[in-house]
Amino acid sequence: MNSPLVWAHRGASGYAPENTLPAFKLAAEMGADGVELDVQLTKDGVIVVCHDERIDRTSNGAGFIRDYTLKELKEFDFCNGNIAYEGTKIPTMEEVFDLLEPTGLTINIELKTGVYFYPGIEEQILELTKRKGWLDRVIFSSFNHYSIMKIKELEPAALTGFLYADGTLGMPGYAAENEVNALHPALYNLQYPDYMDDCNMFDIDVNVWTVNSEADLIKCRDYGVNAVITNYPEKAVKLYSRN
Ligand code: G3P
Ligand code: MG
Repeated sequence: MNSPLVWAHRGASGYAPENTLPAFKLAAEMGADGVELDVQLTKDGVIVVCHDERIDRTSNGAGFIRDYTLKELKEFDFCNGNIAYEGTKIPTMEEVFDLLEPTGLTINIELKTGVYFYPGIEEQILELTKRKGWLDRVIFSSFNHYSIMKIKELEPAALTGFLYADGTLGMPGYAAENEVNALHPALYNLQYPDYMDDCNMFDIDVNVWTVNSEADLIKCRDYGVNAVITNYPEKAVKLYSRN
């Protein structure tokens, strides 16, 4: 059986501050196949990488990303309490593309459009992805399925996945009907009867989050998923004997 691909969740966030350039660099060094990251839009319309709509949890600042210009956001420290990384700034999406360009890694870009819709973010992320020559190395996902359908409408060649949490029924058929490439379920969905069989039947990739323990990594391999999204890419790579 093939081992799953290893995608580093918010970069190698088990070791370095989440969604920062050091976390993405570390993921590449640890042998990950890709990284997962989250995008938001600044006041002056720049796509930046951050999980939350606010910067309070992950930086020494406070407030909403949409209320700051990029220049203002770059004043804050995103080391998130990890002093080894003091001085780490919020990355733009463009900076991440540039950093990972030589590595061959893929990027799973999660559009955080569930709280604010950030009108125009779909056009903008596609324009940037294409301009940087990354279209065939990116898979777009979101809990906001309207965002994903918008991406598909704007660029039918874009790879796409529907994110969802636990317990929703009929997702493989729904994904197939909407012609997305993948489902991104929380781990516990895998146990539902026929789930993997249905995904295989509809040719839908299964990219699972967030898979951190050895037991869960083994479970995902046994289920035959396409990718695990993990905070500990080094552990997953070793377990799957990738190096
Ligand atoms: O994309 C997988 C996972 O990141 C979804 O949840 O909250 O970590 O963005 P969250
Ligand atoms: Mg995410």
